[in-house]
Amino acid sequence: MDVLLVGSGAREHALAWKLRQSPILGRLFCAPGNAGIAALAECVAIGVEDLDGLVDFARKMAVDFVLIGPEAPLVAGLADRMAAAGILALGPSLTAARLEGSKGFVKDLCRAHQIPTADYERFDAPAPAKAFAAKLGYPVVIKADGLAAGKGVVIAADADEADNAIDAMFDGAFGTAGQQIVVEEFLEGEEVSFFVLSDGQRVLTLGAAQDHKRVGDGDLGPNTGGMGAYSPTSLMTPRLQDEVLHRIIEPTITALARAGAAYRGVLFAGLMLTQQGPKLIEFNCRFGDPECQVLMLRLKSDLLPALMGAARGDLKDITLDWSAEVALTVVLAARGYPGSYLKGTPIRGLDRHGGLKDAFVFHAATSKNGDQLVASGGRVLSVSARGASVSEAQALAYAAVDQIDWPEGFCRRDIGWRAIAREQGPG
Ligand code: AMP
Ligand code: GLY
Repeated sequence: MDVLLVGSGAREHALAWKLRQSPILGRLFCAPGNAGIAALAECVAIGVEDLDGLVDFARKMAVDFVLIGPEAPLVAGLADRMAAAGILALGPSLTAARLEGSKGFVKDLCRAHQIPTADYERFDAPAPAKAFAAKLGYPVVIKADGLAAGKGVVIAADADEADNAIDAMFDGAFGTAGQQIVVEEFLEGEEVSFFVLSDGQRVLTLGAAQDHKRVGDGDLGPNTGGMGAYSPTSLMTPRLQDEVLHRIIEPTITALARAGAAYRGVLFAGLMLTQQGPKLIEFNCRFGDPECQVLMLRLKSDLLPALMGAARGDLKDITLDWSAEVALTVVLAARGYPGSYLKGTPIRGLDRHGGLKDAFVFHAATSKNGDQLVASGGRVLSVSARGASVSEAQALAYAAVDQIDWPEGFCRRDIGWRAIAREQGPG
C-alpha cells in the first residue's frame, strides 16, 4: 500500500513511525513533513491547505490511501475532495468535521441528544452575550465559533474580562471565527483526552491520554497546543470509559450518520471529569498532538488496516492491542512560545538519544540548514519514552531531553505530575 500522510507535526512523525512498521506499507509520502519525518517518508513540498496540490499529487502517485493529520484541511473539505477523485482517505467530510469547525454546532448537537456538556448559549451580537455571561456568573467561558488555532477560548474571571473578550471577538480578534460566539458555564475538574476511530457507524476505542495545555510547570501561564502528555491515565476507569462511549461518543456518531454526514475518522473528545460525571468540552476531528505520540508508542497492532477499514466504512473485523506500559512525551518549544519566538536556531545532540533505551524523539517543527538541524516553529520536538509507570516513563523522557543541546528551547519539567502524585498516593 502506498500512503500519503498529510501534515508536518510531531503527531505526523509518530504516525509515520507507526505506519513504517506495517508489513503492508509500500511507499510513504508526507506533505509537507519535516526534517524528522524525512528519515521515514518521502517528503513533498505541498502545504496542508493546498487541496488541489494534495489531490493532484495523490492521483499522480496513485496512492492507495491518504491519512489526513491536522484539522485545517479537513474543515476545508480535503476528505471530500479525495473521495471525489476516487482516492481512499481518512478524515471526516467537511460536514462531519463541523464537530471541530463549529463550536456552536457541537453545542446544539449536545442539547438535541442530551450529551453532557457545559450549559451555554450562542450569540451573534455582544449585548445579549454579556447579559448571559452575567447570568451564568464568573468565571465564564467565551468561545469563538470557528477554528482559531486553539486560541479562540477565553476563561474570563470577572465581568470586565468577559465583556472585553466578547467585544474583542466581535471586533474581529479571531477573524470570521469570532462572528458567532458561544458563552458557556465554567467546568471544574481534571481534563482527559479520549480517542476513538469510527467508520461512520462502529466505534473502536483508541484510548485516553492527559495533555498539559498550560505553558508553565504546575499548569500555570497561557494555553498552548499542548506541552506534554501521557497515556494511559488511571482517571479513565473502564466504568468511566463505558459512560463516555454511551453518553457522548455513540450518540454523536449516530446523530451524524442519521443526518447523512457519517463520521469516518479519528474522533477526539476533550472531556472534563466533573463531580457530576464526564462532560464534553469540545470535539476535535483528528488525533491530538502530543496525545498521538503516546498512543502510537502504546499501539501493538498494525495501524494501517484499521485506518483503511475506517475510511472504507468497515471496522467490523478490526481489533487493536495496546501495551499496558505508560508512554510519556515532553514537548520542547522555542523560548517565547506561545508568544513570539526565534526561528532557525540550531539543535544538536539528537544523535546521542540513540543510546537511551526506549527514548523516541518525534519532530514537530524542524528543518535542515545544510547539515545542521534547526528549529522552524513554536513546538519543535516531542521527546518520548515508555515505562512501567508514569514516574519511570517520565524519568526516561527527561533523561533524553537532557541530552539535547538546544539553548533556545525550553520544556516543562513536570509532565505527568498529577498522575505521579496519584501513583505515590496520599502522604
Ligand atoms: P478548547 O479550545 O475548547 O479545547 O478550550 C481550550 C481549553 O480551555 C480547554 O482545554 C480547557 O482547559 C478550557 N476550557 C474550555 N471550555 C471550558 C469550560 N467550559 N470550562 C472550563 N474550562 C474550559
Ligand atoms: N493537544 C490538544 C490538541 O491536539 O488539540
